[in-house]
Amino acid sequence: MLDRAEIVAACFRQVFMEGGQSCPQPPFRRPAAFAGDSGGAGKLTNYQKLAGDPQLWARAPGRVDLMGSHTDYNLGFVLTLPIGRDTWIAARRRDDGIVRVHSMNLDASDEFRLDAIEPVSESRWRNYVRGVAAILQNEGLALTGCDAIIHSTVPVAAGLSSSAALECALATLFSGLGGWSLTGERKALLCQKAENEFVGVKCGILDQYSSCLGRRGCALLLDCRDLSTRAVRIADGIRVVVCNTMSPRRLSGGEYAQRRAECEQGAAALGVSALRDVTPEMLAARRRELPERTARRCAFIVAESARAESLAAALEAGNRPAVARLCTESFAGARDLYEICSPAMEAMMEAMLAAPGVIGARQAGAGFGGCMVALVDAASADAFRAAVLNAYRSATQVCPEIYPVDAAPGAELFNIEEIAK
Ligand code: GLA
Repeated sequence: MLDRAEIVAACFRQVFMEGGQSCPQPPFRRPAAFAGDSGGAGKLTNYQKLAGDPQLWARAPGRVDLMGSHTDYNLGFVLTLPIGRDTWIAARRRDDGIVRVHSMNLDASDEFRLDAIEPVSESRWRNYVRGVAAILQNEGLALTGCDAIIHSTVPVAAGLSSSAALECALATLFSGLGGWSLTGERKALLCQKAENEFVGVKCGILDQYSSCLGRRGCALLLDCRDLSTRAVRIADGIRVVVCNTMSPRRLSGGEYAQRRAECEQGAAALGVSALRDVTPEMLAARRRELPERTARRCAFIVAESARAESLAAALEAGNRPAVARLCTESFAGARDLYEICSPAMEAMMEAMLAAPGVIGARQAGAGFGGCMVALVDAASADAFRAAVLNAYRSATQVCPEIYPVDAAPGAELFNIEEIAK
């Protein structure tokens, strides 16, 4: 079976070298081989067959947050897991300052000049590409034109950071093409800036940070104030399982911005620059000074940030009762205090909690649909999956996607020699 890098390279040749207008049709467009984790770099086994194709490959992962919903823009803690669902880009330099990109997933292309980058109104994925290029250039980094093919296994609009994976893979690619490098932290901040300023989504740092700084085998406890992280090894016998409700969410919808504004109002009323500075005791003493809804939002964030630290310790120690309690509290807060749950999420929560092997389950991403996450006894992962599939399908008539995920490395670059190894 052709592996990931080889299929991307074959598509590259089809689009850019043989004058094809679009990618080969299935299995190239949505190959079954891409359905699961990529398992890392992938090997280009028959490279000689493809000689003269792409010069560089970049990949960057999606992520699932294990604890810490909406804590990032409040400068609190979040426990995040960069996952093996990732975005790959294969590229070859051009010397005319033009960037041509083709998305295998969408079977759509874009082309722009590096000296005249403008946003487009009709398709958001093109703005991620243009935005990263524009922001890197504004930083004074020299960009090189290229032909590039993109393929992603991160589901779109599902709360697993497909946009950050694209941004971080692109920034990594441009650094490889330009012959310069950025620290993971700076790359993450610039990609966040591209999303905030060029695409217009005021996200926090969680997604880009996870995608740039992942480490194989580790969850990361991220302090969103100083961007320091602690690597967290999940105890043997516990697996992370992503459960996609298949009900899509969009961050540009007003709810995310509204939650952010409510948190800012709460912080201002409490006289701090961010909710990170509010302790549970302070909030309990001054809660009455806040409008009722603002108080609930603040209560969720303050507790959720503390839970991120507690869950890191509980997962390292394999303390299953603590994992269960923290996840239950997190979901209850997301539903009742922060109000980011949907009927599909409630149905999925019920299905996850009733399934064999479940240790804890909660929301993931921004909420409002998308994926949820369960911590499951490793030996029962198959039974868990089958039970959740059945229960959620019977409750909603929608077939969910349920898959275990492992901690993957952050954004990385490969040249031909590395890929062909
Ligand atoms: C989205 C945003 C992140 C974060 C999460 C919620 O994924 O992009 O910055 O705020 O929602 O935790």
